[in-house]
Amino acid sequence: MNLQNAKILVTGGSAGIGKATAKLLVEAGAKVAITGRNVEKLNRVAEEMGAIPIAFDVSDYGVISAKAAETVEALGGIDVLVNNAGIGDFPSMGDIKIEHFERVFSTNVFGLTLLTQELVKHFIEQKSGHIINLASTAAVRGFARGTVYAASKFALRGMTECWRAELRQHNIRVILVNPSEVTTAFANTERIERPEEAYKLRPLEIAHTIKATLEMDDRGFIPEVTIWATNPNR
Ligand SMILES: NC(=O)c1ccc[n+]([C@@H]2O[C@H](COP(=O)([O-])OP(=O)(O)OC[C@H]3O[C@@H](n4cnc5c(N)ncnc54)[C@H](OP(=O)(O)O)[C@@H]3O)[C@@H](O)[C@H]2O)c1
Repeated sequence: MNLQNAKILVTGGSAGIGKATAKLLVEAGAKVAITGRNVEKLNRVAEEMGAIPIAFDVSDYGVISAKAAETVEALGGIDVLVNNAGIGDFPSMGDIKIEHFERVFSTNVFGLTLLTQELVKHFIEQKSGHIINLASTAAVRGFARGTVYAASKFALRGMTECWRAELRQHNIRVILVNPSEVTTAFANTERIERPEEAYKLRPLEIAHTIKATLEMDDRGFIPEVTIWATNPNR
C-alpha cells in the first residue's frame, strides 16, 4: 500500500514498539491515531510526533465501539489497524490465579477482538484494509513462567489465522508480527522504559518490520514475520 495519507490506528502508540511504529508511519506521510491509558503521556507523545491521541483502555469493553467511531471520524476513514497494545504477567505455574488470565486476556485478546470487529466493518465496506497483530515469539514457543502471557499470544496467533481465512475474500490482509525481546517498558509496573542494550532489539526494528509489511504492493502480503536479535554472544 501507499503510506502517503494512509489512515492508521496504532493501539498503545504512546510507548515502546507502538510509539516507534506510529512515529515511522507519520514520517512516511500517513495520518496516524494512537491510543493509551495514561492520558498525559498519550497527549505529549502524540503532539511530539504529529499523531492524533485517542485515550482509552482497550480492556474497557463498554467504550470500544464509541472510541472506534471517534477514531474513524478523527482520521477521516481507516485503512490500517495495528493491534499493538498488550500487557504481560508472568506468575509461576503454582501461583497462577484466574485473575492473571482475566487481566492479560482482557487486553491482549478480548478487547483487541472487539476493537478489530468494529473497524473491520469499515474494511469490508470499502473492500480493503490491513490488520497487523503484535504477537510475540511467545506465540510460537512456551517458556517457564510464560503460561498466562504465552496463552494470550498463542490465542492471538490462532485468531489471526482465522481472521485471515475469513477476511481475505474482502481484500483485507491480516498480518502477525512476532518480536523476540525488545527493550521497552513492557511488564514494568512503574512503566519505566528500559535503556537500549547493544545486542537486544529496539522498538525501531519492529517498527521497520511493520512499515515494510505495509509498504508491499497490495497484490501480495506477508502473513507472519518473526524478528530475533542477532545476539552474537549467545
Ligand atoms: N517488549 C517486548 O520484549 C515484546 C516482545 C514481543 C512482543 N511484544 C508485544 O508488543 C506489544 C507492545 O509492547 P511494548 O514492549 O511496546 O510494551 P510497552 O512499552 O509496555 O507499551 C505498551 C503500550 O500499550 C499501551 N497499553 C497497554 N495496555 C493498554 C490497554 N489496556 N489499553 C490501551 N493501551 C494500552 C501503553 O500505554 P499505557 O500504559 O499508557 O496504557 C503503551 O503505549 C505488546 O503487545 C507486547 O505483548 C513485546
